[in-house]
Amino acid sequence: MAGKAWRSAVCTRIVLGGKKSIFVLFFSQLSRVVGAAKNETPQSRTFIRGIQTVTLIPGDGIGPEISNAVMKIFEAAKAPIRWEERNVTAIRGPGGKWMIPPDAKESMDKNKIGLKGPLKTPIAAGHPSMNLLLRKTFDLYANVRPCVSIEGYQTPYTDVNLVTIRENTEGEYSGIEHVIVDGVVQSIKLITEQASKRIAEYAFEYARNNQRASVTAVHKANIMRMSDGLFLRKCREAAEKYKDVKFTEMYLDTVCLNMVQDPTQFDVLVMPNLYGDILSDLCAGLIGGLGVTPSGNIGANGVAIFESVHGTAPDIAGKDLANPTALLLSAVMMLRHMGLHGHAKKIETACFDTIRDRKVLTKDLGGNSKCSEFTEAICQRMKDMD
Ligand code: IPM
Ligand code: MN
Repeated sequence: MAGKAWRSAVCTRIVLGGKKSIFVLFFSQLSRVVGAAKNETPQSRTFIRGIQTVTLIPGDGIGPEISNAVMKIFEAAKAPIRWEERNVTAIRGPGGKWMIPPDAKESMDKNKIGLKGPLKTPIAAGHPSMNLLLRKTFDLYANVRPCVSIEGYQTPYTDVNLVTIRENTEGEYSGIEHVIVDGVVQSIKLITEQASKRIAEYAFEYARNNQRASVTAVHKANIMRMSDGLFLRKCREAAEKYKDVKFTEMYLDTVCLNMVQDPTQFDVLVMPNLYGDILSDLCAGLIGGLGVTPSGNIGANGVAIFESVHGTAPDIAGKDLANPTALLLSAVMMLRHMGLHGHAKKIETACFDTIRDRKVLTKDLGGNSKCSEFTEAICQRMKDMD
């Protein structure tokens, strides 16, 4: 960590802003970020053969029914997973700080791996998004979203096969905002060398381990010369260490343009937080939406939470109409992360075959079946494979 760079960043702000209160806040946030980097304790986690326990956060709205569907499918696949269910709601800890319930935190600390359904965050709730709080609590710094065209589910695109890798802890999501004077609000996009380096290296490592040929760094360093400039520099430096992976860099707007014209030109894309939030939705749209797109939040030492990133769909909650595909494919990602490749393949194949067959599909996929019927069809396919 370049201490000097930090100090000069803070000094620059003092000169520019000229309001003391702003910098008090900035300093406190800064020490949190730096502290988080320093406190990282490398603990090794090895997966023993046999049953592994995973923390399950069913979530709100349709969360419980799609979680049930996943549990049923895992049981039919004889996946060696035991679920430890935990509710996640916002609670206030000592000093009024928002936190996740201690039993959920302890479960994740112990199990290291979690699967999570959608969590609602009412805009006027007064607490931060629980989705974000979970990422922050466990320092899940890489958000990985593979977008692969699904055979039998028609969209204007075919052969999409790319992965967005999003920095998950800082950028515009750092939550540093303040009123400078009445009517003027400042929001700080925080980019650090440490977080940029680890996400850049993660992207190359991911490409190498997943037989992917190229990594594209997505940025606006022409406009945000210092912040995106730092991010881009770290990507270039990582590229030097991974000569076997092709490296390109592209402006975010150009990526959007090229993406909708021909998504097949992209492979792995790495980018800061907000760009990743937006671009990953765009890419999900290419393959049919958030209902079929998996997501994984990865931290150090094997810690990870896999989640469906669609909403809680309160209008259809409890009606057995929800599509469990996104959560199921996230759970498949989880199995691969845990080294359970056989079970992952079996479940994925049964899911994709069921969709390709088009006989038993939920409404959003163009069918008329219930969530439970779709789930049963996947289970039946796996039984037939045995
Ligand atoms: C996502 C979501 C979250 C985000 C929301 C729910 C806070 O859109 O995972 O992409 O903005 O990151
Ligand atoms: Mn999003």
